[in-house]
Amino acid sequence: MAVCDELERRARARLDPRVFDYYAGGAGDERTLADNRRAWARLELRPVLGGGADRSPDTSLTLLGRRLELPVLLAPVAAQRLLDPGGEPASARAAARAGTVFCLSTRATADVAEVAEAAPDGARWFQLYVERERVRSRRALERLAELGYGAVVLTADLPVAGRRERELRGGPLPLPRGVEIVTHGEPPPRRPAGAPGRAAGGAPAASPAHKPVVGGWDPALTWRDVEWVAERSRLPVLVKGLLTGEDAALAVEHGAAGVVVSNHGGRQLDGALPTAVALPEVLAAVGGRVPVLVDGGLRTGADVARALALGAAATMIGRPYAWALASGGEDEVAALLRQLRSELSEAMSVSGAAAVTDLTPEVLAADR
Ligand code: FNR
Ligand code: LAC
Repeated sequence: MAVCDELERRARARLDPRVFDYYAGGAGDERTLADNRRAWARLELRPVLGGGADRSPDTSLTLLGRRLELPVLLAPVAAQRLLDPGGEPASARAAARAGTVFCLSTRATADVAEVAEAAPDGARWFQLYVERERVRSRRALERLAELGYGAVVLTADLPVAGRRERELRGGPLPLPRGVEIVTHGEPPPRRPAGAPGRAAGGAPAASPAHKPVVGGWDPALTWRDVEWVAERSRLPVLVKGLLTGEDAALAVEHGAAGVVVSNHGGRQLDGALPTAVALPEVLAAVGGRVPVLVDGGLRTGADVARALALGAAATMIGRPYAWALASGGEDEVAALLRQLRSELSEAMSVSGAAAVTDLTPEVLAADR
């Protein structure tokens, strides 16, 4: 059983069923959710014997000018204190330990400053949903550079939330006492002296700005917003959530410093193509101008090798680390990243690859 499946089983046993369903679920009949994973498995690897690969292949890479130890980044995943009290700061520390990026969601339960404090030296990116109230997005963006964030990931595939049947059936997510969706643009509300704090597990201070996990974003996003986000943040902007060559070309023309091929883990448009199938078209349209990342259904180091062999610069994972966080907090997320690194290293050895750049289409079967 893949480590991710074991983690999912453990997480399921611990979580409220509504919370489990929120993280596990996808849109509609969950076809795209299932196909994401199948599409990676379908890419067959060709072992290259006696390729002279180093005994311990080098899994490091340079992405947007920063060296990372592992081409597996932690994707933005909402509301992580629903999974474990450590929440986003725990995930950020685990990523820093593994030498990879933690990407903080707009819909988080810890704000940009708290995460920066938890992992001051870790590579951190911020995922942006442009809020209906744009002033909030602007304020959040303006704080990022000084807090040491390295990039903004502009998620473009949620003009509206996908039709997630499990959530519709289960009703609103239960937020534990003291846990709330933050507003990154503003300092946290001051609690009156003597009011119960989060650590004490007391009731949260009255929160007129209380936000839902899903919703509130601006459906009128346009390509010009890529430039707006870059200007406001003074950081490189990656566009996440595209699946076609046309959109990737437009993103680059509008100044994107990278793109993330993603169907939101099958949570948006059921029937949308799996990311392993969309990736080659996007790579062709981008033509090496910016790095192309991919996420969705990647569950093993061999899957990561497949994505890099197709030409992705790096990958992101969502649910696997959510399950790890729910199973055992920061240490379990760090263990998952170690596991993926050693699996990738094994796949590289068997494919005759000494470095991630040696993973080329030749390591995949020709009749894919
Ligand atoms: C997500 N994803 C996501 N993406 C984003 O840009 N902002 C967000 O807040 C969230 N929130 C979120 C919550 C949950 C519960 C899931 C499962 C996913 C999408 C995420 O970044 C990523 O694209 C997918 O999770 C990748 O697919 P896998 O690895 O989960 O199969
Ligand atoms: C989700 C949003 C928050 O997928 O990205 O639930």
